[in-house]
Amino acid sequence: MSGVAEHSLTLAFGGEALLGSVAVFFAVARYSWRSVRHVKAERARRQGLYERQLAEVAEREQEAACSWSGYRKFQIVGREAEDDRGAMVSLYLTPFRHGEEGQPERLPRFRPGQYVQIRADIPGQANLLTRCYSISQAYAPDTYRITVARAPGGADPVTGERHPPGVVSNFLFEGGRVRSVLELTVPQGDFWVDMSRSEPVVLVGWGIHTAPLLCMFEALAREGRREVWLFVEVGSEPGMFRHALAPLKELAQANRDQLNIVISSFFGSASEEGPPLPQDPFSELGDHGNTLQVRQSFAMGGVSNREGRQGFTWIKRALPAHYKATASFYVSAPALALREAKHDLEAWGVPEESVHFEVFDRASLDAISEVEEDTGSSQVSFETSGVEAAWDPSARTLLGLAADHKVRIPSTCKIGKCGECEVALSSGKVRYVNEPDWKVKPGHCLPCVCVPASSNVVVRA
Ligand SMILES: Cc1cc2nc3c(=O)[nH]c(=O)nc-3n(C[C@H](O)[C@H](O)[C@H](O)COP(=O)(O)OP(=O)(O)OC[C@H]3O[C@@H](n4cnc5c(N)ncnc54)[C@H](O)[C@@H]3O)c2cc1C
Ligand code: FES
Repeated sequence: MSGVAEHSLTLAFGGEALLGSVAVFFAVARYSWRSVRHVKAERARRQGLYERQLAEVAEREQEAACSWSGYRKFQIVGREAEDDRGAMVSLYLTPFRHGEEGQPERLPRFRPGQYVQIRADIPGQANLLTRCYSISQAYAPDTYRITVARAPGGADPVTGERHPPGVVSNFLFEGGRVRSVLELTVPQGDFWVDMSRSEPVVLVGWGIHTAPLLCMFEALAREGRREVWLFVEVGSEPGMFRHALAPLKELAQANRDQLNIVISSFFGSASEEGPPLPQDPFSELGDHGNTLQVRQSFAMGGVSNREGRQGFTWIKRALPAHYKATASFYVSAPALALREAKHDLEAWGVPEESVHFEVFDRASLDAISEVEEDTGSSQVSFETSGVEAAWDPSARTLLGLAADHKVRIPSTCKIGKCGECEVALSSGKVRYVNEPDWKVKPGHCLPCVCVPASSNVVVRA
């Protein structure tokens, strides 16, 4: 090899080596730079996470500090009519403060679907009255919203007997003006949607019973992780929940892949209101920002529309077939509608553990409860009244037995939610036929949902 060639070769090799070193240098530098950036980003992420966690802990501590036991004074700070007939109103409630000083307090968080108990001092009533009202809006740090339907009274459709208008709901309408003071428990109840899960959610509500579902829909929609369908049966009142539904419709419009609202109402005949229904009304959902107002009732509870009773058969048409096995169903409706919903969901094959019901009264609880065959024999003593009674299963509960023997035990909800009927259990054992929401004091029982579970039972009533 000539000297020149050897030199060029050396240069070539030298150049390649140099280039290689430069490349290695840049690769190492890029890697180190990336690592530094990665470490920095990770540090910032952890710092952010840490700060967020600290803020959350501080918020929760603040909320826990603002929690209370028993009743606490709240003030009505706003009200909105929810329909055209003046039969439904939303009330905004905030903790009562003397004067205007100080920061508004942070309210304890609750699980979407829960209710508060309201206690009111109503003119003309001998005692303070308590009633349960579902929170109808997702958590806001300083306000709880409830939505109240006025119980009108009038003739009983079955017996024809005339009843006076509901006391508390009418008071909230007429006496419940802005600045009125009421007393509230902390939110409670076991009808709530688990926000940590990810399966689709179907919410089915009937009239005022939709209140807890509005709260669930809003909470789930704000998280934006899950498919949610909200069906609202508004009967002959198409404008029902006009304020409460407006922001939910906006949420559905902004997230068409996951959120759907179907508001259904019924009218007298096909010709009475607008064009006939399309073959598949749900095919139009997308065109309407995923909110559809249809003139077809899912009409559970014996109310029929021009196509007859639809029940869940109608709702099923809207839902993906796999929902039967994958979705969770939350139904809040009056007694007859609940019974039909339970039946229809069972018939469709939805597993029992995927179905959750909210009940507002005894008739509704009976509609979804299994009837107990035999509850055994027992002697019950109502200590204070001096009444002895043999247990009679036809009384259904200890409260029923007390009523049959003219023993007066104060009661409001009669479904184990309000605690009004709580009495001391002096001796013996009881068994709950329906698990109560109310946290029973040790040594006490809730006669409205329990039966004797020992041969002798003594209650202080
Ligand atoms: C968990 C839960 C959540 C609830 N959430 C809501 C909600 O979000 N919104 C809502 O509006 N309600 C809700 N309720 C129902 C609410 O608690 C009250 O029951 C409702 O407002 C009626 O109360 P009232 O005092 O007006 O009627 P009441 O005075 O208790 O009367 C109730 C009904 O009985 C009739 N009546 C009166 N006297 C007689 C009689 N002698 N015999 C037979 N019937 C009679 C009345 O006309 C009335 O229709 C909920 C209930 C529960 C248990
Ligand atoms: S009456 Fe409400 S818990 Fe018994």
